[in-house]
Order: sequence, then structure tokens, then C-alpha cells
Amino acid sequence: MKGIILAGGTGTRLYPLTMVTSKQLLPVYDKPMIYYPLSTLMLADIKDILIISTPDDIERFKQLLGNGKQFGLNLSYAVQPNPDGLAQAFLIGKEFIKDDACALILGDNIFYGNGFRGILKKALKNAEQNHTASVFGYYVNEPGRYGIVEFDKDKNAVSVEEKPKNPKSNYAITGLYFCPSGVSKIVEQLTPSDRGELEITSLMDMYLSQQRLNVSVLGRGFAWLDMGTIDSLYDAGSFVRMIEKRQGIQISAPEEIAYRNGWIDKASLIDSAKKYGNSPYGKHLMTVASGKLKY
Ligand code: G1P
Repeated sequence: MKGIILAGGTGTRLYPLTMVTSKQLLPVYDKPMIYYPLSTLMLADIKDILIISTPDDIERFKQLLGNGKQFGLNLSYAVQPNPDGLAQAFLIGKEFIKDDACALILGDNIFYGNGFRGILKKALKNAEQNHTASVFGYYVNEPGRYGIVEFDKDKNAVSVEEKPKNPKSNYAITGLYFCPSGVSKIVEQLTPSDRGELEITSLMDMYLSQQRLNVSVLGRGFAWLDMGTIDSLYDAGSFVRMIEKRQGIQISAPEEIAYRNGWIDKASLIDSAKKYGNSPYGKHLMTVASGKLKY
């Protein structure tokens, strides 16, 4: 299974914050935004990850994350010259994906909830063994802002629509998509939408029409946040801060996940911790290395 993080876009809704930097490098409380989606792919046991960003921003991601060895990962990089749609990630990543199944996560999405690893494992198995795609539905107050999935009375998905004017349900499709092998070929058949983009929702609609789309609902008690606006960015930072302070943990620390997954040893964890110096993040990694954090 391969993974792609799409960290492109112009971020105009966040101006002036994103006038000279990428949205996905902005701080979400105590760490850069991209640490969160990176952690999600790692929780799904995905180690080969392609990061896609704009020609202007890609170097910054390389400086921050390098080849991924410190996380026990193989990271590679590619550019999306123009924001021509989310599904384009599978075309840009065609050579990287080869004949594998591939997950795509949007660089501004945070997932946080108990049992998430199990949910991810199921989606991975569906893609690799059953050749079906998976998306996650999440009940929201403002469905018109998202891709939306409609269910019939037996909870089967019957339609998906991108930012409909009259949403048929309140279930948003989150920015995490698991696709079986052959996804790039399917995207090659898509035509751009009225706004000129290769829509991820059109790809999911294709899987739905082939009866190859699983939709799991992330229920109450699960947090899904996206960060396209000033307020949602602020809210995400507040959420992370609140949980971290309350429990004395770090949400989405890639080195910690790598260590717990057995992908890096204690010496590498300590090396990373030192690199982060005196920051709360660095101190947290030291605590993990010491074995004192029993949680
Ligand atoms: C994108 C997708 C949308 C999805 C959302 C999740 O929208 O097009 O289907 O629900 O991400 O974050 P965007 O936020 O890029 O407008």
C-alpha cells in the first residue's frame, strides 16, 4: 500500500498567513500541519509516502521531512504545477503508485479518535484484498462545504456529490481515500468538472457505480477537522492544545508512532528528540524514549 499527502493549493482563504508559505506548513498548536496527515498514514501502516505540493513550496517540505528515515519512512516528493483537482494526485503519482493500492489524504485534515487504527486497517484490507475503495462519512452542520454521501434506509451509500447546493444528507466525505490498484487508470478516464478540476468525488462516484465503494461512518466521539479557513485553523489548534494539556500527550507525533510501530529504535527516537531541542515536542519524545509514558 502506498500513500499520498496532497499539500498543494493556494490557501487564499487564509491570506495573509499563506502569502509566502504553504498552508500545510502552518502551525496547528505545536507542530506543522502536515505532521497530522502524515501520522494518519503511519497509523494505517503505510511507509511509502509521496508528498505533493506546489513548485514554490515543495522545497520547504523536503527541508522539514527529508527522506523520512527519522520516521522509519520512505518519503518522496512531486509537484502539482496548478491546482487542477484532488484526483490529479493519482496522475502525478502514477509512477510512484505502480500497481499498488494507494491511500490519499488531504494535507489539511486531522483525524482523532479511539479505535482509528482498526478502522484504517479495514480500509487497507478492502483496497488490497477486495479491490474496493473506502471513504469515511462524518456528520457535519454545514454539509454544503464538502463532498457529501447520501445513504438509503439500510445505510448503503447511494450517491456522492461535491459541494451540492441542496445537500441530500449531512454526511461529509472526509479527506482520506483508500483506492485499490489501478486508480491512476480510472482517473485518466475522468473529465474535469464545471469548475475545471478533476474532482475526487467523481472518482468515488465511479467506484460507487461499480459497487466498489465502502463508506464507513466515523461516529459520535470521533473528531475530524479540516483547516481551510482562519476559524477552522484556530479551532483545530485549540482542540489539539486542549487534549494535549489535559492528558500530557502529543497528538500526531510521527516519531512516536514510528517507535511504537517498531520502525525506529530508541537511539533514533532520542536523536530526533534532541533535534527538536527544548520544545514541548522534543521533551515529549524524550519521555516516550524513557518508557515513563504508559499511555
Ligand atoms: C475537499 C473535497 C471534498 C471533501 C473535503 C474534505 O474539499 O473536494 O469532497 O469533503 O476536501 O476536507 P476542499 O476542502 O478542498 O474544498
